[in-house]
Amino acid sequence: MAVFWRALTGGVLLALLGWGAEIQGNSAGKKEVSGSATVNLGQERDIWRPLIHTTINLSEIRSIKSSFQLRTFDPEGVIFYGDTKKGQDWFVLSLKDGFPLMQISKEDMVVSVTGGPKLDDGKWHTLEVSNEGKFVILDVDDSGGLVVGMLSKTEEALSGELRLALGGVLIDTEKLIVQFQPQLDGCVRDGSWLDLTEPWETEVEELWPCYQDVKPGSYFPGTGLALFNTSVFPIKADGGVTFEVWADFSNIDGTIFSIKSPKGEISSASFNKTAKELRVFHYPMGITEKTTFDRMGVTFLPDMVSVNCSRVDMSLSTSFNVSWGDSESAFSTFWTEAQIAFGGLLGNDEDNAHDPQFLTGCLEKIQVQGQDLDLDLAIKRQSISSHSCPT
Ligand SMILES: *[C@@H]1O[C@H](CO)[C@@H](O)[C@H](O)[C@H]1NC(C)=O
Ligand SMILES: *[C@@H]1O[C@H](CO)[C@@H](O)[C@H](O)[C@H]1NC(C)=O
Ligand SMILES: *[C@@H]1O[C@H](CO)[C@@H](O)[C@H](O)[C@H]1NC(C)=O
Ligand SMILES: *[C@@H]1O[C@H](CO)[C@@H](O)[C@H](O)[C@H]1NC(C)=O
Repeated sequence: MAVFWRALTGGVLLALLGWGAEIQGNSAGKKEVSGSATVNLGQERDIWRPLIHTTINLSEIRSIKSSFQLRTFDPEGVIFYGDTKKGQDWFVLSLKDGFPLMQISKEDMVVSVTGGPKLDDGKWHTLEVSNEGKFVILDVDDSGGLVVGMLSKTEEALSGELRLALGGVLIDTEKLIVQFQPQLDGCVRDGSWLDLTEPWETEVEELWPCYQDVKPGSYFPGTGLALFNTSVFPIKADGGVTFEVWADFSNIDGTIFSIKSPKGEISSASFNKTAKELRVFHYPMGITEKTTFDRMGVTFLPDMVSVNCSRVDMSLSTSFNVSWGDSESAFSTFWTEAQIAFGGLLGNDEDNAHDPQFLTGCLEKIQVQGQDLDLDLAIKRQSISSHSCPT
């Protein structure tokens, strides 16, 4: 254990510092990132795949400490991972409900510990992981965070390799005691990992930058959408289905959400910033309203669609009649089989000329059926910051 921990603390911190870290190809064709940069963990990739990783000889490790800064509004996701013996012994640091969570596997035992201060407040926090004898210690902002004691019967030789990874893990996730959603919309910077100077490796072409200042919300840069199966929402067929969005409508442009029926018909809500016009559409009917809001609610009912918008000084309610098909069950069938996208217009697969009209801007909050929607849970999510908007 001692060996493993010495390795982990000294070496784990990412070596990326600064914006738009330079990535260079090395002789083996792998891309290298310098040891000092800022890493945006929200970058798109397979959900458990590390953004950057490195492998070090345990014999080269001289330090027992790693430290770095983390900033996020996202309460859940993986921060970093380390292992020895090709993944037999491992360590994972993540957030769950905003609190740091460490999970450690050593020989046949897996330990988890959670607690300390909540970190999902959008401020930069300094985290330091160290190994003092039998104890693994996580300090947050220079004060005590979490301590795990583990006494091992066997002494390990200082040999073999240590693997470190940021933003993902290298083990089968079924081995974790505490399961969690891996995607973390957060940034890591100023990493100092076990005094290591070797470059890390990455499979991505370019590391996304981190915004200077952020506020809570979901940011759509106009290049992608988040796709859900409606079957994941708590939808009761006859009670109606409500979508609500909070935003400064004078600063958003494009498709807010769209719904594709099992037959391929599209319903949507969009805002045109130039025309200051809201458009809500359910095939073949729709409404337009020429004004801006702070909040928009759209409720789909078996016989109509109702739209409620408000601003500090005004509110507006309107509706239009719709039909969902011939059978009585058409409405509930629709909602169990439809797909919904936030931030873009879904199209029919055969329509090559399809314009997705991606959303540009910040949605401060999204609710479906009165519950906050976490874009990290989308089946597919492109180019969207799920929990932070630039200010
Ligand atoms: C680790 O150290 C051993 C012994 O010095 C050496 O043979 C091996 O190539 C090193 N491995 C790496 C990845 O540097
Ligand atoms: C979404 O729904 C489709 C069609 O019912 C299904 O094939 C697919 O597996 C679902 N995806 C997820 C992630 O649930
Ligand atoms: C938005 O409104 C402007 C001005 O009326 C118009 O030129 C433009 O085509 C509209 N955009 C979309 C996507 O409908
Ligand atoms: C909408 O439906 C209601 C109730 O069926 C009916 O009274 C009303 O006339 C309809 N409105 C329009 C515009 O068709």
